[in-house]
Amino acid sequence: MGVIIKTQAEIEKMRVAGRLAAEVLEMIEPHVRPGVTTEKLDRLCHRYIVDQQGAIPAPLNYRGFPCAICTSVNHQVCHGIPGDKKLKDGDIVNIDITVIKDGYHGDTSKMFVAGQPSVLAQRLIKVAHQALWQGIKQARPGRRLGDIGHAVQRFAESHNYSVVREYCGHGIGKAFHEEPQVLHYGKAGDGIELAPGMCFTIEPMINAGKHQVKTLPDGWTVVTRDRKLSAQWEHTLLITEHGHEILTLRAEERA
Ligand code: MF3
Ligand code: CO
Ligand code: CO
Repeated sequence: MGVIIKTQAEIEKMRVAGRLAAEVLEMIEPHVRPGVTTEKLDRLCHRYIVDQQGAIPAPLNYRGFPCAICTSVNHQVCHGIPGDKKLKDGDIVNIDITVIKDGYHGDTSKMFVAGQPSVLAQRLIKVAHQALWQGIKQARPGRRLGDIGHAVQRFAESHNYSVVREYCGHGIGKAFHEEPQVLHYGKAGDGIELAPGMCFTIEPMINAGKHQVKTLPDGWTVVTRDRKLSAQWEHTLLITEHGHEILTLRAEERA
């Protein structure tokens, strides 16, 4: 197996899938408000992906996952299952979108706030976002996977936050999760060298307290053991000749 280097034709399809995933996050933004259930957010995204985009929500039935999107609220770290609980004022929520279009996957997530979050929550969200971008800055030919992990970890820990170890970024393409594993911690200079045509995600989960997590009895929802807040952001990247292209970039992120 190993890391799949995408052809030009595959790259075109990855660009389309990435753009669609990003557009789902843009579509859902105004709906993330106190009083809305995560089930409603799931339904809106599901309908949009299928009806408007002619795409497939990748999480649905993936290893038995029951919904079209993941919604992880407050101390939930990732893989939260949408449900009938309403978001309340001050809640923070990660919405993770993966679509399949023309056989290729685009995977991206961001943090949303319902109403007015605490100063602590705002700070965590901001640092987690900056941690993702520290990783992205390392993404170019000649750099190694360890350079990405190291940059993310150094930044997060310098703010006294911790990096979740059990879940990582991943190669992506025809399959949802391909090689390589993209750890969000590690040693600079370690791991495989990045090369043009590689596609992978960077998606650090940053905890306000300790890094330990556990999975709830539903078999999916991952939460912090100390029940402190967690935040995550994710992009899908392509390594290019001289750097990278962020395939899931949103309008709000374009300078
Ligand atoms: N989108 C997640 C990721 O970034 C994976 C979700 S798997 C699911 O890799 F089954 F929970 F949807
Ligand atoms: Co991912
Ligand atoms: Co994802």
